[in-house]
Amino acid sequence: NVYSSEFELALGAAQIVREYLMNILDQQTEARILLATGNTQIQFLDALIALGGVDWSRLVLFHLDEYLGIKAENTASFCYYLRERVEKKVKPKQFHYIKGDATEPLTECDRYANLLKTQPIDLCFLGIGQNGHIAFNEPSVANFNDPHWVKLVKLEESTQQIQVKQGYFPNLDAVPQYAYTVTIPTILSSKKIICLASGINKAGIVKTALEEEITVSYPVSILRRHQNAHLFLDAHSASLL
Ligand code: GLP
Repeated sequence: NVYSSEFELALGAAQIVREYLMNILDQQTEARILLATGNTQIQFLDALIALGGVDWSRLVLFHLDEYLGIKAENTASFCYYLRERVEKKVKPKQFHYIKGDATEPLTECDRYANLLKTQPIDLCFLGIGQNGHIAFNEPSVANFNDPHWVKLVKLEESTQQIQVKQGYFPNLDAVPQYAYTVTIPTILSSKKIICLASGINKAGIVKTALEEEITVSYPVSILRRHQNAHLFLDAHSASLL
């Protein structure tokens, strides 16, 4: 779906998600969503909440990724982002956060993986990194047949630089080198995927992901193999298609 502006994109995606959630909540007592973070999600989440009509008290929420070693109170953490932008506003049934500062990171991966294994995801929101990453499945660590559900990964410097550029960290040294991420097979296990990409910075990767081969060099390209994955673009991110 291509929209004229980022605002139209956010609203269009929110309307489709709202309808889908209302439908599945007619059939199930609860629904589970895997949330993304990043700047592209901001207007979309605002629109979804503002539209109303979704009974958030029947939604169980998870998220895709978190920096290793970061505290929930750190304003750069994805936990902070989601608490402020979602949890405080809508009071979901439950919000399962990845504990960035867990003392035993591998045990934290197992804890989160077990939650996801026992609670299948109805809907997954995604953004796309400029290098094609989804969640923190960077090209260097992405595995389409990953045996793990959640894992620890090393971030690419280009990803760290973007986090500084976006103002989340003061400089490159302040950006954690490692992160937790939900893996690609876990993302693909979601019944429906809503992927958003806006802005001219995403035009190149959007073209590559749609028109080149499906490869871990561009992890987002794997979405073409999912039966129910939807890509939402604005005029800028779609400009090279
Ligand atoms: C970040 C996050 C992803 C996010 C993506 C796109 O690094 N790890 O979960 O979806 O990159 O971010 P943005 O929407 O700011 O372009």
